[in-house]
Amino acid sequence: MESKQVDVAIVGGGIIGSSIAYYLAKEKKKVAILEAQQIGRKSTSAAAGMLGAHSEYKEFQHLYPFARSSQLLYKELYEEIKELTNIDFEKKNGGLLKLAYSEKEKQELESILSLASVEWLDCKEVREKVPQLAVDIVGAAYLKEDVHITPLVACNGLSKGAQLYGAEIYEYTRVLRVEKTGIEYLVKTSQGTFIAKNVVIASGVWSNYFFQQLGLSHEIIPVKGECVAAINEGTPLHYSIFHDQFYIVPRNNNELIIGATKKWNDWSEEPTLDGLEEVIQKAKRMVPEIGKMKWKRAWAGLRPQSYDGYPFIGEHPELKGIYFATGHQRNGILLAPATGKMIRDFIIGSPVEKEWLDAFKVDRNMFAYGGGK
Ligand code: GLY
Repeated sequence: MESKQVDVAIVGGGIIGSSIAYYLAKEKKKVAILEAQQIGRKSTSAAAGMLGAHSEYKEFQHLYPFARSSQLLYKELYEEIKELTNIDFEKKNGGLLKLAYSEKEKQELESILSLASVEWLDCKEVREKVPQLAVDIVGAAYLKEDVHITPLVACNGLSKGAQLYGAEIYEYTRVLRVEKTGIEYLVKTSQGTFIAKNVVIASGVWSNYFFQQLGLSHEIIPVKGECVAAINEGTPLHYSIFHDQFYIVPRNNNELIIGATKKWNDWSEEPTLDGLEEVIQKAKRMVPEIGKMKWKRAWAGLRPQSYDGYPFIGEHPELKGIYFATGHQRNGILLAPATGKMIRDFIIGSPVEKEWLDAFKVDRNMFAYGGGK
């Protein structure tokens, strides 16, 4: 292939790269997504798809407002992408029940319970909604807004939407190097060279290679999550059930997604029997009848985590036009729209919320925020 000129080369075609491509292509930027494998088939497809702004982020000063803004952006994106591409994100509206097994766990939910959209349900009330729930719970915080979608479908919707606005998608295209040439960059790939004014690294845990290659010592740690899917042939479940880091998420087709372990610095992409046993035990504690359901499949994905738990969304401290959008940990799906918009705003020169700019910038003081989870 002869070298190809674009405004923005996006390295990585997961949901973060696809969202960035969508928002930029909509602004008439000439965009190329360079994906080493197939769109959305790595960490994106491993995710359960909970848009858990409330269930995940109560303790983060900067991340909750960012997550909430992204959750709200999804409301317009579902409609927009459906209209444009005919792809439906398979949004399921039940919301999420965050269980408490003791008074102490109920107290730990207090900060979420102070939010207007969140309601406390005692054991009887919550079992009226989900009769399959264990009888020994004290109750649950009902997070109505924490709905869920199917991540791979949403990613395909965003990349297809980007394509319809003129973006080009190159699958099986591995980026080998990014080199500065004058005011532009040469992006050398397994399928030829792209010349780009801007390059966005959105490769999840695989962004480490580019931090190093572009002269930075930043590190993304993989946090492996293992999941199993079961077929629910009994009473349908209409809510996601959540306790601690574990969850049961009902998909539209009777599938229950049961997850997930959190294995720090584990690069293997296959689930282990120990990992699956752990998630199944946790799920059975929430919904005992799960043990009787038919097994469907099991998988693992690598969540990208920075040292302080905040994502990197910002420009390289020295190389103008190089951006990073990685480190979204458990919430790449939730944070994709707000991340896409933020990178778009950097590139088109629109203002970006100062608080988020400082909290997520690449050259921040990693000890200042101390989010980490
Ligand atoms: N967002 C859920 C997980 O990462 O397991």
